Amino acid sequence: MTAAPAVPASILIVFGTRPEAIKLFPVVAALRADPRFAVQVCVSGQHRDMLDQVLAIAGIVPDHDLDLMRPGQTLDALTAALLTGLGQVMDQVRPARVIVQGDTATAMAGALAAYYRKIPVDHVEAGLRSGNMYHPWPEEVNRKIIGAMASLHFAPTETAAQALLRENVAPARVHVTGNTVIDALHWVTARIAAEPGLASGLAELEARFAGKRVIGVTSHRRENFGGGLEAIARAVRRIAARDDVAVIFPVHPNPNVRAVMDSALAGLANVALIEPLDYPHFARLLGLAEIMLTDSGGVQEEAPALGKPVLVMRETTERPEGIAAGTARLVGTDEDRIVTEIFTLLDDKQAYEAMARAHNPFGDGRSAHRIVELIGDEIGQEA
Ligand code: UD1
Ligand code: UDP
Repeated sequence: MTAAPAVPASILIVFGTRPEAIKLFPVVAALRADPRFAVQVCVSGQHRDMLDQVLAIAGIVPDHDLDLMRPGQTLDALTAALLTGLGQVMDQVRPARVIVQGDTATAMAGALAAYYRKIPVDHVEAGLRSGNMYHPWPEEVNRKIIGAMASLHFAPTETAAQALLRENVAPARVHVTGNTVIDALHWVTARIAAEPGLASGLAELEARFAGKRVIGVTSHRRENFGGGLEAIARAVRRIAARDDVAVIFPVHPNPNVRAVMDSALAGLANVALIEPLDYPHFARLLGLAEIMLTDSGGVQEEAPALGKPVLVMRETTERPEGIAAGTARLVGTDEDRIVTEIFTLLDDKQAYEAMARAHNPFGDGRSAHRIVELIGDEIGQEA
């Protein structure tokens, strides 16, 4: 660690959605524990209830909250509001550096607003690439835009670092840190161990589905809206028709997702359509589930770390490490394919066991610490 400067460096951390909050709370905690930094948290409020769930468990009270979420928000209205709002906060705070995470609209607009002010931006979870600009959409392009402006690129894996080098990012600016989601997962697991009541809210469902094999489902991708989501809903309906299966499905509040899932799945005996779970309860679901069926990015990282087979309802993934490790499999959004793959895992013990091994390609739980040291070194060099 370099010595603390006389005046701590002002860092503004910007985020707005549930996954960014989960992956940045370990960074916020590590920066706040370090006297070299004066940290302010700005949330865009791109998400509201789902963001607030994470802020509550992580004990973060934002210094700035733009409260931007609108029901059914469009990408352009959201992006315009983000750019203006985040720029105003930056003009007020005048930070030495800005930190963004991932590939959301908030992260992209946050990086752009910082760039417009010539403030260096550090990118957490840099270098993820699917190679297809419409899968995931618009995230593939969001993260490339951020990559074009970032000062320090914190790549979660070697694969991600290589992708940045192929885009001619200077090697000295790219650091493999692991993914902070593993820090978050370790932290929440320890919190639950110390205080089991934090994740006891699923008890009623656990009793209702006792003896059944639980499949955890999440789905929210914009590129799956319409036909893709409908196919996913039909597949879940067929899977839940089996007597030995129970589906626990925390439904994303986006009206485009809710309407489809409600109309196909509400009232089925073996399906629990529930509100988004807070992070301790979602960790509990990851523990309960025999299989995860998801189109989420974060769940693709958490499930392998816990040795849970995860079937990914996407055509392509920017997280090939889980596939290479054997814990994740791409199944797309074809109804028959999803049903067949789930039934194989349920009925073929060998197939299940081949996938159900804990792998940790995404990190060791020390990523936030590494990121803070690298920012500290950078600030030390600038001073
Ligand atoms: C956003 C991100 C996506 C990320 C996902 C994580 C973009 C373009 N998309 O997509 O990369 O994977 O978050 O969940 O940045 N809503 C609520 N309450 C909430 C959150 C959302 O009601 O707490 C509803 C609102 O109607 C909102 C809609 O969901 O307008 C869509 O939210 P938005 O953030 O635009 O898109 P996501 O699909 O959540
Ligand atoms: N998650 C959660 N509650 C839920 C569903 C997911 O806390 O009901 C967590 C999950 O553990 C993961 C993150 O949310 O860390 C993933 O968020 P999401 O799938 O919304 O976004 P993505 O990762 O696809 O960007």
